[in-house]
Order: sequence, then C-alpha cells, then structure tokens
Amino acid sequence: MNIAEPPETQAGVEDRYRLLVDAITDYAIYMLDRDGFVTSWNAGAQRFKGYVPAEILGEHFSRFYTDEDRASGLPKRALQTAAEEGRFEQEGWRVRKDGGTFWAHVVIDPVRSPSGELLGFAKITRDLSERKKAAESLRRSEEQFRLLVEGVTDYAIYMLDPTGLVNSWNAGAARIKGYAREEIVGQHFSRFYTEEDRTAGDPAKALATAADVGRFEKEGWRIRKDGSRFWAHVVIDAIRDDQGELIGFAKVTRDITERMETQRALEETREALFQSQKMEAVGQLTGGIAHDFNNLLMAVLGSLELVRKRVPYDPRITPLIDNAIQGAERGAVLTQRMLAFARKQELKMEAVDAPSLVRGLMNFLDRTIGPNIEVNMRFPGDLPRVRTDPYQLEAALMNLAVNARDAMPGGGSITVSARPERVREHPALEAGDYVRLVVADTGEGMDEATLSRAMEPFFTTKGVGKGTGLGLSMVHGLAAQSGGWLTMKSRPGAGTQVELWLPVASAGQSEGPAGEASDGPFGAARRLLILAVDDDSLVLTNTAAMLDDLGHEVLVASSGKEALEVLKGRPDIDLVITDEVMPGMTGSQVGEAVRAMNPATPVIITSGFAELAAKATGVDFPRLSKPFGQSDLAAIVHETLETVAAT
Ligand SMILES: Nc1ncnc2c1ncn2[C@@H]1O[C@H](COP(=O)(O)OP(=O)(O)OP(=O)(O)O)[C@@H](O)[C@H]1O
Ligand SMILES: [Mg+2]
Repeated sequence: MNIAEPPETQAGVEDRYRLLVDAITDYAIYMLDRDGFVTSWNAGAQRFKGYVPAEILGEHFSRFYTDEDRASGLPKRALQTAAEEGRFEQEGWRVRKDGGTFWAHVVIDPVRSPSGELLGFAKITRDLSERKKAAESLRRSEEQFRLLVEGVTDYAIYMLDPTGLVNSWNAGAARIKGYAREEIVGQHFSRFYTEEDRTAGDPAKALATAADVGRFEKEGWRIRKDGSRFWAHVVIDAIRDDQGELIGFAKVTRDITERMETQRALEETREALFQSQKMEAVGQLTGGIAHDFNNLLMAVLGSLELVRKRVPYDPRITPLIDNAIQGAERGAVLTQRMLAFARKQELKMEAVDAPSLVRGLMNFLDRTIGPNIEVNMRFPGDLPRVRTDPYQLEAALMNLAVNARDAMPGGGSITVSARPERVREHPALEAGDYVRLVVADTGEGMDEATLSRAMEPFFTTKGVGKGTGLGLSMVHGLAAQSGGWLTMKSRPGAGTQVELWLPVASAGQSEGPAGEASDGPFGAARRLLILAVDDDSLVLTNTAAMLDDLGHEVLVASSGKEALEVLKGRPDIDLVITDEVMPGMTGSQVGEAVRAMNPATPVIITSGFAELAAKATGVDFPRLSKPFGQSDLAAIVHETLETVAAT
C-alpha cells in the first residue's frame, strides 16, 4: 500500500519558515523594508528588545540605536553598506524598549527579488552582553591577578619561557634577588644559581623535572645580584595551554635564610637544654653515690693510716696496708671527680688569670703529652680574669690535654686559646662577660654518638682500666659550678675543640688567697681539747681516732644539739670540728651557736658538699673537704689556730 504525501504548497513552506524564525529566542530575527521600517518581529527580538510585535511593526529601526549613533547617522549607513556590499556586520550598544542598553552583534543582509530588486533587509541581532560581561570580568580578574602577583613582596613570583628566559618579574623577585624588571626580563634564570649548581646542570634539570612531572620543588643556595647568597625554597610549575603544549614555567622562590637560621638556633638551644637536663639528672645521682662513698672511703683511709702507724713494720703486712691505702686514695680521687661533676665539691673561687695558669700547666705537662705533639697557646694581651677554682681549673685543663693526647696517637698539635665573650642570650649562661677557653686538637675526633655522650660520667671509649670516663664530667661540673659551661665540637678526622666558658671575675674580686697546698703531717704544737661532731658514726670515730693519734684530747657528739650540750659543760674546749650536713642543725648553725657562746673558740667545718645554705649564713668558717687524710686534718687545725692567734 502506498499513500502519497500531498505536494507541498508554496504557502505551506513559507508558513514553516515563519514558524521556525518565530520560535528562535536566542537571536532577534526580523525584516526591515527598504527604508528601515520593521516589517516582521520574532520571539528573540521581543525578548531582547522588549517590544511586542504590535508596538514595533511599522516603526523605524533606528530607535534601537543610541542617541549618538543616530546623530552620527549610523542606522542609515548600516543599510547603505548592506545594500552596497551585500552585508553589514558590527558589534555595538543597542537600546531596549525600557531604555536599557545591551551589547549586540548585528548582521544586516539585503533581501532582493529574483530580479535583483532590493525588497528590504534581514536583520539578525545577538545579545552579547553576557559574553561581554564575562570577557570583561575575565580581563579584570587577570588584571587584578597581575597586580596581586606584582605586588607580592615576600615571594619572588615570575614566569619563564620554555627555554628558561625570564619573562615577568614581581616586586618580591626584585626585593629578594635585587634585579629590577628591566634588567632581568629576557635573561636566563640560571644566573640565580651558584657556580657549582650551574656546572652540575641543575637549572636545566629543574626545568626538565617540572616539564616531566608538572612540578619541581627544592631548597638550595641562590645568588642575588650583588653576589650574596640566600637559602631559597623554590617551586617551579610547568604551564601548558589547552592543547597541553608547554608554554613556560611559573617560578615561586622564597628567601628562607632567616627561617633556616632561626630553626638552627632553636635546635641548638633545644639540644643544649636537653644536654643540661640530662647532666642535671645524672649529676644528682652521681652526687648521691659519691657522697656516701666519700664517707666510706674516709673511714677506710683514716683507719688504714692509723693501722700503718701503729703496726710495726712487717714485710708481710705493711706492703698490703700501703696497697690498700693506695687503692682507697685512688677511690677518693674518683669520688672527688664525681663530686666535681655533680657540682658538689668545695670550690675555692678566685679571680684567675687563665693565660698564666695555662702556661704554667702546659710546661709542666710537656712530658705527659710527649714530644710528637706540638702545643700552641694564643691569648690576647688584656684578657680579664675569670672566677673559678684555680686548682680545679688546672685539673680540668689537664684532663682536656690528656684527652687530646689520647686522640692523637700519631702526633699532632694542641692549641689552647682564649678570648673574651659577651653573652646576651644563651640557654645555659646568664647574660654577662665570659672568657672562652678553647682546647683544640688535630686528633681523630668523635662521631656524633660519642660526642653526645662524652660528658656523661663513666662514658669512655678507652679500654677497661684505661679511662674512668669521669674526665669531661669533672670539667663540665667545674664549668657549671663556676657559672660557666662546657661545649664541644668535633667530627671524625677533623679534630676536637673543647670550649670552656668561665665568667669574668667582677672588679671587686681580687686574686684570692694563695692557698698553697700544705703537705706533710704537722705535729701537734700542743695538746688541744677538740670537740668532733658528725652524724655518721663511722666518720666520727675515724676523725676522733686521727685527732687522738695527733696527740689531742677528743670529745665526740653525733648531732649539733648534743655538741652544744657538751660545749656548755666544757668551756675549755679549744676547737670544734663539725660536719656540715647533719639532720636538725647544720655545721654552720653549730658554728654560729659556738661563736655566740664562746667567740674565742674556732670552728672547722668538714663537708663533701658545697653547701649553699652554709654560704647563705654569711659566716665563714675554715673548711675541710671530705675525704681528708690525717695530714689534711693536722694542717687545718694548725692553720686555724694560727689565724686565731694572729687576731
Ligand atoms: N679530644 C678528644 N678527641 C677525641 N675524643 C675525645 C676527646 N676528648 C674526649 N673524647 C672522648 O670522650 C670520652 C670521654 O672522655 P673523658 O675525659 O670524660 O673520659 P676518658 O678520657 O675516657 O677517661 P679519663 O678522663 O678518666 O682518662 C673519651 O673516652 C673519648 O672517647
Ligand atoms: Mg679524659
């Protein structure tokens, strides 16, 4: 079966075109007659321009133009151009019914009869306001973005072309790198790199990486125009167009020199704090142990000395006693060092001229150090005196020199130098003036692990029986107790520098008493009545025995209270020797009470600790540090009585 469609009539075709045109709302499509009067009007025209067909049909199209365009005769010219050239096309402002304007794209085509006669014009208008707005806002945002980027001063933000030539430059780049825009645009960015990095091909590698993976990020040294270096954080991003073609690179550089330095200082401070906390903790432990040992050793030493005196020489016994005494003395030296580390030893603070002390010591140490090690000394002429205990400082320097020697089995050099330092802010030091004493060697140095533990008590890398590991601990203790500090720098193969910071002695502190070490037992000039006070019965017995052996008469008391009782009954007591650390009353308090009762009776205080409390009383008594031997005891008794006699 075949149903034929009815042939389309001319009128039917026209109707359909009209429907089509009428339906279009995105374009205003309408006809003008030859003179420019509107003869048709579609939905799009109504939408853009706001007129319904009844209002506008028969009106002249020039009403869609702005006053200026009308005044300049644009509507007429447009039709003329269309008629003469077959087409008129333009973008421009057009006016709506409500007087508002819109940006329009306008095309006018002439409509001619088959014979070529001009019938009118077809006008197609498109509202481009939206598009124009978008373009405008894009332009504005680009402009703002450019201003933003150019104005940023904390970051160098600039563009490179694909070969690495600079083609934009912001304020930050100018500030950080020192080049003005005119100087640098068109130059290759590799000039910001160091010579070494350039030789290594780093700039090209950076671009290659960015091109490859889209992004390159790194920190490194960069060069400013004036040749100075800064530590930079650099990011390079590849820029590609819509087709993925590489069109250049965005480079953002930040100067983080300051941050890096702050960071480093912070880490150093943290490290120093950690170190000092560790030392503090270990110090307390060591101090406690050493204190007990000190008392035990005193009892052992004192008793042994008395035994040796009382037992007639016997080749089977005497060498053994000597041996035992030597062992106990070695032990005493160790506990002394431990106390030193724990900052609990008696220090005789004086204003010390470090250079002359070092010179004297080094001459003396020549033999210990050996001929294949050269010793240099460098001191400025006017170095201020430092406040410390000169004997302990000697011991400390001796330790450092021996450590240096041990680190240079094949020879080398030790340089001792000093220079004044002013401290404003420091994790371990109070603000003030210091002398920095440096003992540097050219030895094997230390790795990080060794360096971080070197000051710990009993840490040693020397074989069993060779090192006690207390040398640096003692030096550290001395430094801390003097109000200074000890720090070391070392790298394997690069030698070691030990820095001992000591506070400058204030102007009032003259050189202290000579304090020559007294040696040899003093025989008692006369028989004295001595009161010995100690809460530790072992020590008390020992002290009493030694005094007794020296020919004195001895009374004992095991507390301050008891001592004062005894004193009341015996005003003829010539001398009181009391321990400082006792429950109830301290030795200093006993001393003051004695002074109050009987000002003529001298008091000697024995102690293994540097008792701050005792110092705080402001009363100064002669002091004897534990452990002491009989000769020390004899010496201080002798000295004290002489001083009393002299006043
Ligand atoms: N100048 C130095 N060069 C290389 N290493 C050193 C130096 N000074 C110290 N050390 C290291 O630090 C460790 C601890 O030193 P410290 O002086 O405290 O103890 P010691 O020297 O081992 O024992 P002692 O001091 O009793 O002889 C040493 O064993 C050594 O490993
Ligand atoms: Mg040592």
